[in-house]
Amino acid sequence: MTEQQGFVLWMTGLSGAGKTTIALEMLDQLAERDLRLERLDGDVVRESLTRDLGFSKEDREKNIERVTFVAKLLSRNGVGCICSFISPYQSIRDDVRSKTTNFLEVFIDAPLDVVIDRDVKGMYKKALAGEIKNFTGISDPFEAPGSPDIHVRTDKQTVEESAAFIIGELEKRGLIPVAEPA
Ligand code: ADX
Repeated sequence: MTEQQGFVLWMTGLSGAGKTTIALEMLDQLAERDLRLERLDGDVVRESLTRDLGFSKEDREKNIERVTFVAKLLSRNGVGCICSFISPYQSIRDDVRSKTTNFLEVFIDAPLDVVIDRDVKGMYKKALAGEIKNFTGISDPFEAPGSPDIHVRTDKQTVEESAAFIIGELEKRGLIPVAEPA
């Protein structure tokens, strides 16, 4: 049986696309397995490590730069990092890839009209009304990955299906052992 490897599963996508939800579902589905995993999430990190930062291009870069430092240390020491950040710029995501171990770019993809419709946090309504500046997808860019390692369409799959699919991709790549049949 292959041993677990350190890796960085980097989920990128619009706010409300399902990054955090899928990350939590993955941890749930993996709970019974004896794996070393850490979750790094935009909303959480922005309350601690990067609470001084906003959403200008420069601040988003700093946000990801600091997270990259953490993910680098963890991934090279055998920990699987499940990361969920909008990370709208391709160049920054490429930079994370170059600095971390076993990086996988995962596009959590839902069309803009779908995430506006979901509006889980009520932020799209405010952004569309001009009450939040630099809001990704509305008044700030999102550069969709051109060739992501993994691509999930959350408007076409359930959360459980997306999480199971990504876990299967980790197994296929030998980053986690294949699950024992129940
Ligand atoms: S990133 O661009 O720097 O990668 P990150 O994933 O950490 O963003 O944070 C995104 C979260 O911040 C969103 O889920 C949302 O809750 C909140 N947020 C607040 N203001 C903005 C904004 N202007 N654009 C995008 N997200 C915002």
